[in-house]
Amino acid sequence: MARIIGGVGTSHVPTIGLAVDRGKQHDPDWAPLFAGYAPVAKWLAERQPDVLVYFYNDHATTFHFDHYPTFALGVGERFAIADEGLGPRKVPPIRSHPALARHLAQSLVYDEFDLAVFQDLPLDHGCNSPLTMLWPTEPDWPGRLVPVAINVLQHPLPTALRCYKLGQAVRRAVESYAEDLKVAIVGTGGLSHQMSGERAGFNNTEWDLRFLDLIERDPQALAAMTHAEYARLGGTEGAEVIMWLAMRGALAEDARKVHQSYYLPMTTAMAVALFEEPATDAPPAPGPVRHSQLDGLDALPGTYLFDLERSAGALQLNRFLHGLTSPENRALFRDSPDAAFDRAGLTAGERRMVRDRDWLGLVRCGASFFTLEKLARVSGVSNPEMVAAMRGEPLDEFLKTRNVPGAR
Ligand code: FE2
Repeated sequence: MARIIGGVGTSHVPTIGLAVDRGKQHDPDWAPLFAGYAPVAKWLAERQPDVLVYFYNDHATTFHFDHYPTFALGVGERFAIADEGLGPRKVPPIRSHPALARHLAQSLVYDEFDLAVFQDLPLDHGCNSPLTMLWPTEPDWPGRLVPVAINVLQHPLPTALRCYKLGQAVRRAVESYAEDLKVAIVGTGGLSHQMSGERAGFNNTEWDLRFLDLIERDPQALAAMTHAEYARLGGTEGAEVIMWLAMRGALAEDARKVHQSYYLPMTTAMAVALFEEPATDAPPAPGPVRHSQLDGLDALPGTYLFDLERSAGALQLNRFLHGLTSPENRALFRDSPDAAFDRAGLTAGERRMVRDRDWLGLVRCGASFFTLEKLARVSGVSNPEMVAAMRGEPLDEFLKTRNVPGAR
């Protein structure tokens, strides 16, 4: 059974990653920052968590304001380092634990946290900047990371209380995962800073130190605060510390803070804090057995559940089909199918089924009906024709079974 062993709260300002990339460990201006992270890196090296569940925020890098999710859980195999304008940092892509991530997705959604999920999107400095302080990168990252992005950019943000409850739900999910895994929870962001407007450059060390105290002793007091209070005390961007509450909510109430460091060199207060779960020899309490929404679905004949596993397995195929919403891709597919298949990276089997308009075969391979519709429209095939083909019936026979056979 998976078990949470501790948690880390950390700032994620890009300059933390830059300090690593530029080898500033012994630069007097940066040495205090590295010294502050050293005990946390040592703890992680000694305790060797298999997985970090990692609350962070994207900074209009991977997600843009045309579609900005409140909570987004990464369920892919690995995540590239995002290009934020200078090219990606030269550190390895981040490997994930897709089975745990899918379990988290299911448990959280059934626990009434309706998350977005993403597959293979890159992760920006909100994730990777502090990560290089926590884990070595050579020969590779020593463990897996499941990312959970939280919107702290575009109001309405989730409340601090909602973030805390999300953490509690993550604990229930982790503790109901059957595999024996050691999991550490990370929450990033803050501390005080404001980056725009005439108030830019605002910091508040007194508040930061109070926050670092309350996050251990009285997280409920922090969870009760409004976004306006966070912005007044810590700056508009400093309000992103609500992501620490997601980390704290996933820990035991009596988790102990065993280390903290605070450094304010320029515009953003950089803090890191390490929390340990209370010592216990007892196995973790099993999480609640969740009522499955899917019990009985296996018994339905001719039914293929489109779940996260199927979605991940057919990602390239569904990308190709969805891509037919673009006039350029439609033209390429019509004029040179092989070139379109090559661009999409389809397998030989997928190519054959697309060529044959093998609707049922494509569904069995993981195509969503709603991406198949794009291929049908390009092909001049109607939905009744697709449905009849999947049922193995001539169209005329199928239409005779409908209430209004001529309604096409
Ligand atoms: Fe940030």
